[in-house]
Amino acid sequence: MNIYIQLAYLIASVLFIIGIKKMNKTSEARNGNLISSVGMLIAILATVVQVEAISLIDIFICMIIGSAIGLYTAYKVEMTQMPEMVAVFNGFGGLASVFVSISDYWLKSQEHVINIDIITVISIMLSVFIGGITFTGSMIAWGKLSGKVNGNAIIFKGQHPLNLVLFIVSVVLSVLAVIYQADYIYIIILTVVSFILGVLVVIPIGGADMPVVISLLNSYSGMAACTTGFVLNNNVLIVAGALVGASGIILTNIMCKAMNRSLVSVLLGGFGATNTSGGAAGGSDIVVKEVGVEEAAMLFDSASSVIVVPGYGMAVAQAQHIIKELMEQCEKRNIDFRFAIHPVAGRMPGHMNVLLAESNVPYDKLIEMDDINDDFANTDIVFVVGANDVVNPAARTNPQSPIYGMPILNADKARTVIVSKRSMGKGYAGVENELFGYPNCLMLFGDAKQTITKVVGELKES
Ligand code: TAP
Repeated sequence: MNIYIQLAYLIASVLFIIGIKKMNKTSEARNGNLISSVGMLIAILATVVQVEAISLIDIFICMIIGSAIGLYTAYKVEMTQMPEMVAVFNGFGGLASVFVSISDYWLKSQEHVINIDIITVISIMLSVFIGGITFTGSMIAWGKLSGKVNGNAIIFKGQHPLNLVLFIVSVVLSVLAVIYQADYIYIIILTVVSFILGVLVVIPIGGADMPVVISLLNSYSGMAACTTGFVLNNNVLIVAGALVGASGIILTNIMCKAMNRSLVSVLLGGFGATNTSGGAAGGSDIVVKEVGVEEAAMLFDSASSVIVVPGYGMAVAQAQHIIKELMEQCEKRNIDFRFAIHPVAGRMPGHMNVLLAESNVPYDKLIEMDDINDDFANTDIVFVVGANDVVNPAARTNPQSPIYGMPILNADKARTVIVSKRSMGKGYAGVENELFGYPNCLMLFGDAKQTITKVVGELKES
């Protein structure tokens, strides 16, 4: 029997690796997801058949309840709420690791296994510590993203020394729990300390930098699962946890680069304190030029090259389908039409790619920032649809701005910039955008879907 279970775990692990590999390409991501899900199903079934403590019926009832909650949530959640959902997933993953590890420690002490082997007991401590930080850290991140907790950075004097003291206390508690294995008070205190540490490392991080934190917590939840795999001696959990831990840290690194932040500053906390007063020059005094639907259509009609810069507002307006129609109208006129994708446009990695893929925009039309940034200067029209921070020149020019240093799309360099948004509302970082007042910039005010529908209507008639 054991050989079949190990074989099933091996197959599941291989499917996870193939699934993650396929996430590399937008065109294959959906299949990658499916392959990983099949791997997870195999891993669950191989685990379930080994359980002796409770009946299979009880397990299946729990699985049906869990799957129903998962399905309901997946259907109900808006695309724009995805990062919040990921934060909750990470948090519960961390909490599960804490529960499993404490239970194992308690069970072994009840069974009077006083000398738990050193690998297992160290894994238990790591799992409780990392899982605890992941749980409360993720809950704070969820609260900040959903607006239930103040999104501003909360910074107080002595924050780093306090974190350091709590870290040292955690190490001491872990050592005591390893030495005095019959006494589980130490592991309980360790859990509480790790919960406090989770809160303390996330509160000093400003809302604008939450994506990096979510990605980092995702990696932590993987590490917690991996150490739990050592506790349970479960190979598939070790592999899956290591994959999540490693891919999470790679993604964190990519996002740090995209936002020009250092990973060390994220790990230490106190990163990205949002200074909303340090906005772009001109503040709310920015004087803008408006453009109407008809005039915008005429500009498209006479252009020879267009780059669309999609952002969070495109997701809110669900404007991706009508943008596809705009693309078709432009291509009928032999206009070169492409999309410029900023790595943190929207609210989750790959957000814009997913939405545009949903409306069947060909993948080769989506160009990454580094590959398209030099082309803006030779482009007739840059159409900014619900994007703001990712085209804010303050990131280049204003050292006081909280987004200073973040690489941006060079939309401002184009001959004409048309910006589709509802008002002079700020973006996620909460700062003004001086681009809107530039001489080459025209504002097309209104909900993106509604205004672009009218523009496309004009183009169809002309
Ligand atoms: P944002 O800077 O958030 O700007 C979005 C703009 O969309 C707003 O200024 C808003 O202006 C406009 N908007 C909202 N609803 C709209 C609608 N129905 N129609 C038209 N426009 C609408 O977006 P961005 O440029 O994509 O930048 C992303 C920001 O989010 C960055 O600061 C990034 O760090 C952060 N972030 C990213 C992620 C990831 S991983 N992508 C995760 C969390 C946070 P109006 O209100 O005036 O319409």
